[in-house]
Amino acid sequence: MDAIPVILVAAGRGERAGAGLPKQYRPVCGKPLLWWTLRSLMACEGLGPIQIVINPDFADLHEEVVAEFDLPSPVSGGATRQESVLAGLEALESGNTRHVMIHDAARPFVGNDMILRLQESLGEGNAGAIPVVAMTDTVKRCDGGIIIETLDRSALARAQTPQAFRYDAILAAHRAAAGTELTDDAAVAEANGLRVAAVAGDEGNIKVTTAEDFDLAAKRLGRTETRVGTGLDVHAFAPGDHVMLCGVRIEHDATLDGDSDADVGLHVLVDAMLGAMGAGDLGVHFPVGDPAWKGRASSDLVAVACDLMRERHARLIHADITLICQKPRLARHQSAMKQRVAELLGVEPSRVNIKVTSTDGLGFTGRGEGIAGQAAVTLELPVPWV
Ligand code: CTP
Ligand code: MG
Repeated sequence: MDAIPVILVAAGRGERAGAGLPKQYRPVCGKPLLWWTLRSLMACEGLGPIQIVINPDFADLHEEVVAEFDLPSPVSGGATRQESVLAGLEALESGNTRHVMIHDAARPFVGNDMILRLQESLGEGNAGAIPVVAMTDTVKRCDGGIIIETLDRSALARAQTPQAFRYDAILAAHRAAAGTELTDDAAVAEANGLRVAAVAGDEGNIKVTTAEDFDLAAKRLGRTETRVGTGLDVHAFAPGDHVMLCGVRIEHDATLDGDSDADVGLHVLVDAMLGAMGAGDLGVHFPVGDPAWKGRASSDLVAVACDLMRERHARLIHADITLICQKPRLARHQSAMKQRVAELLGVEPSRVNIKVTSTDGLGFTGRGEGIAGQAAVTLELPVPWV
């Protein structure tokens, strides 16, 4: 199935959440709610461009949130959610759009599994598919504080977003329903006689609506875990007059052989960073023989690993590097190497440790054939919630 574009409605005033600021712009764990929703959508497979619908009164806030994402320009919404969705649908290119997903900016916990279920249901030929969760409480109909009757909860379900539709069908349904006030797109589809399938929703996919929901969202979005990665590397000596170790030039009667500057200290550091992120190894990111990396300083590799950390919102807690060689003697360079590594990582020097050791003349390092390194890196990463 082609990538499905998403209409993300973010034009509401978020009044029930209080705080005076529309809830989609209110920060949770340092980032606006809308940012978290975008991040979740971007992590899902099979989705196309995300068309945001905003209230132009808050265009400045919106700009700030989306600056780091590559998104189509927002369109202006209306006074009701239904009007906002219609504005989003009208903004898509009709000729190229087969399906569409419509999602609330206030649901940051949207996940890949649910998206797959929706896609599967559309693939089975349904005009629409929406995620629902079962009612677990007994449900009453009330009037003025008095219970009127008990409803059969087995026939009831709570609807979530994203809701997925055939584009031409939902566009026609929305156009036909304009002026009514329906609270989700399935209701618009039903009103137009479309067949909408129910797929399993997710109790965790809450719509952040009240101040209490913000507390709940912060607890989930702010959770982190600690991970350790290790690195190991060896480079042989070759004719030359200096070696690069942990970003520091050290005069020697040989150099280290390798594609880049053969900085074994930085190589093990990067490998350990990649390991902790679960992002493969040096060979995956910097293939041997790739002309792009020939002769480059290994500090560039550290910069790439730091970019990967930023993408994942990871924080370096500690890096511990061990260099193993008989010669050159490294003890007097330890402090400079520590400073340089901390600088490359953008952390306090106290988060970096450099150890040097010989192997008592034993093995290939003992025979002076090369230098070996190993590292352990500890990272703090957000716990994935989807
Ligand atoms: N929405 C919209 N345009 C509107 C009203 C709502 O795009 N005129 C969007 C909201 O921004 C939200 C989603 O529809 O992402 C679901 O609506 P709701 O949770 O009700 O949000 P608000 O209407 O903003 O909040 P409230 O009802 O508490 O004022
Ligand atoms: Mg509302």
